[in-house]
Amino acid sequence: MAKLKTLFVCRSCGAVQNRWLGKCPDCGTWDSLEESTQDPNAERDPQAALVGAWAELTEPKGPDEDAGSSSGTKARPIHEIGDDEANIERMSTGIHELDRVLGKSRAGGEAMESAGVVPGSAVLVGGEPGIGKSTLLLQAAASLARRGTRVLYVTSEESASQVRQRAVRLGSQSEKELFLLSDTNLARIVEQARKVMPRVLVIDSIQMIYRSDVPAAPGSITQLRRCASELVYLAKKSGIAVMLVGHVTKDGQLAGPRLLEHLVDTVISFEGERYHQHRVVRAVKNRFGTTLEIGLFEMTGDGLREIPDSAGVSPVSGTEPRIGSVVCPVMTGSRCVLLEIQALTATGFLGAAKRKSSGLDSNRLAMLIAVLEQHAGLRLADRDIFASSVGGLKVTDPACDLALLLAVASAQMRKAIDPATCAIGEVGLGGEIRPASQIDARLLEAARLGFKRVVLARGKGVVAPKGVKVELVQVKNVDQAIEQLG
Ligand code: TYD
Ligand code: MG
Repeated sequence: MAKLKTLFVCRSCGAVQNRWLGKCPDCGTWDSLEESTQDPNAERDPQAALVGAWAELTEPKGPDEDAGSSSGTKARPIHEIGDDEANIERMSTGIHELDRVLGKSRAGGEAMESAGVVPGSAVLVGGEPGIGKSTLLLQAAASLARRGTRVLYVTSEESASQVRQRAVRLGSQSEKELFLLSDTNLARIVEQARKVMPRVLVIDSIQMIYRSDVPAAPGSITQLRRCASELVYLAKKSGIAVMLVGHVTKDGQLAGPRLLEHLVDTVISFEGERYHQHRVVRAVKNRFGTTLEIGLFEMTGDGLREIPDSAGVSPVSGTEPRIGSVVCPVMTGSRCVLLEIQALTATGFLGAAKRKSSGLDSNRLAMLIAVLEQHAGLRLADRDIFASSVGGLKVTDPACDLALLLAVASAQMRKAIDPATCAIGEVGLGGEIRPASQIDARLLEAARLGFKRVVLARGKGVVAPKGVKVELVQVKNVDQAIEQLG
């Protein structure tokens, strides 16, 4: 038997050393070298199946490819390129909320829009453990298969029968075009992909995949970089859309510091609390669409259920006025979501008062507290203040300023706002209320969900859109807004 060679690999940069050192000479990290050995089975792997060989087998380009050029590449004027690559029709996953996040494009010159996965693209799906990454991808895979798109679902963390059990729960155990593979070796996965010839390849998760010719543990930077770039290359070469699941570390970063994010075309992240019902899917990076859109899901007993456009994230509960709670119609991309913002104030200590927020920008909260002190005469310096967006949705829309401000004022003054009232507007440092964008969409959505009154910035020509029955309460500054509290 061949002697195993021992190597030392840096955990943070992936540099390989022949002996152990206290500090990595490449990246300067202390105590980061780990012992590893070359896999004795490396030679027996079907290395030929790796992507290099893919190119000859499935040359995707037609006569358009410049055959005369010896190097295989040639610069072309931009208008010649456009027609070929912009016309790719996306594969709809059948899950509207996911398609929305993946983005849409126009195909075929006419106004025919298609949304979904771009063939040949690499998508990374990140999120905390247990948030529903595997569930969503299995649902998407099953739904694609139902539409006649062949999918290979590679599970590197669970056994094939475990995945089947989940499929049974989701009601998609009998899809003919859905192939399952439980493996962690990249070469074997690529070989299977070549046999099955799927149009979408799902890898759940990339952290467990390894190449046996790379002397590092699965999940280490070196393995991640090599395996992910190999898979991205495969996507580009073969036209298979590759969807990778990536784990997120405790501080919310995708494991493998930003490395994977650079490699792929689209990064989708799962947000929301694991123990909350709602899940938000957001594109963090998207080479094929906007990053403004979000997809809303609800975790149920049989998988993730889409939350359609005309539903609020927070069930606007009951008709009783509640102290410290104000609703705001928030825009995220092209959709409007009614979001409940809550605040609580409690006795604190002057100079050490706590200001905590969840789902909301804490700088914004600090600013609004200062505005309340200066322009509304509230004394908050010795109050602990907590604010949150109900349901765990992260909000960045400045139009929720007014709602947050009113929630804090309401909590502090122990006065509730009428429950059929919502608030829209940005608050300036001078205590003025500024109008928000896309006001019509917000009013429409608020009215649809049963709101009767909307507090908003005073402005010329602020009227409710035709057919929308809401009373508009126009306010100029913070003082006038606070008068709306009962
Ligand atoms: P999972 O998709 O495995 O999470 P991830 O791959 O992101 O780690 O599962 C997420 C959680 O969802 C799991 O704890 C159980 C729950 N769940 C349901 O509530 N209903 C279901 O139908 C499924 C499949 C899972
Ligand atoms: Mg999983």
